[in-house]
Amino acid sequence: MTGVFSLDENIMKAADLLKRSTFTTAYTGAGISVESGIPPFRGEGGLWTKYDPTMLDIDHFLGNPVKGWEIIKEIFYDFFGKAKPNKAHLVLAEMEKQGLVGRIITQNIDNLHQEAGSIHVYEFHGNSKKLVCLECRMHYKASEISLDHLPPTCRQCGGLLKPDFVFFGETIPEGPLLAAYESASISDVFIIIGTTGEVVPANQIPFLAKSNGAKIIEINPAESNYTGQITDIFLKGKAGEVMEKLSKVLFTPAL
Ligand code: APR
Repeated sequence: MTGVFSLDENIMKAADLLKRSTFTTAYTGAGISVESGIPPFRGEGGLWTKYDPTMLDIDHFLGNPVKGWEIIKEIFYDFFGKAKPNKAHLVLAEMEKQGLVGRIITQNIDNLHQEAGSIHVYEFHGNSKKLVCLECRMHYKASEISLDHLPPTCRQCGGLLKPDFVFFGETIPEGPLLAAYESASISDVFIIIGTTGEVVPANQIPFLAKSNGAKIIEINPAESNYTGQITDIFLKGKAGEVMEKLSKVLFTPAL
């Protein structure tokens, strides 16, 4: 369906699909937050080109919590903390307000969809703004816990605190998992924004949606595991820029 049409022609097609959709799910990855200053994990400048991803393997973390927390602090708390939602997050929130998006399934842990005003957000990989005690399961706001001394420990029981996001080797939280599979069965449009589609099981959701008949719109400056396989309309470009153009067609008040 993408064929040889220009970006603007494809944006018109995508807008038409979105306006006619009965239930649209937005499925987002790290790419949607790049214009907020958060690097992606893979590709040029990706975090995994600078840091060893095995540091975020749960067994590795439990075996060496101080080393694990040193990396986690550097990546997710010293740096990520100041990021703000960009145009792409804001347009998605407005689309939800106008009934054009039913829910967001995000792989991101940066809380930027919520900060942009989106309500129905399901975090497939959890959220970095919360810490959890591995002993008594007490939750804390990350902003309430000092990371001057590592590893941080629970005020209640002295147990080891861990960011409340999914490490490699951990299971996906049940609520977001069920919401994602439900989305894949009820959505007639999936808009995929900024993901390589590399990580299992998150990357299966769009394939499931396609197999259930959903039309796939994809926004990405580069091709992904979806582009040549299931994408119906490929909007090649940066999320903030493409979503800005899309918003002009979606929200233009009827004359
Ligand atoms: N706008 C849109 N997409 C972008 C932009 C941008 N400005 N910049 C980069 N991208 C795209 C890249 O082309 C790539 O396809 O974002 C994608 C980033 O891919 P990944 O870094 O692999 O991110 P993601 O697919 O979300 O990773 C999934 O891997 O490490 C785990 O748990 C981590 O949730 C993460 C999961």
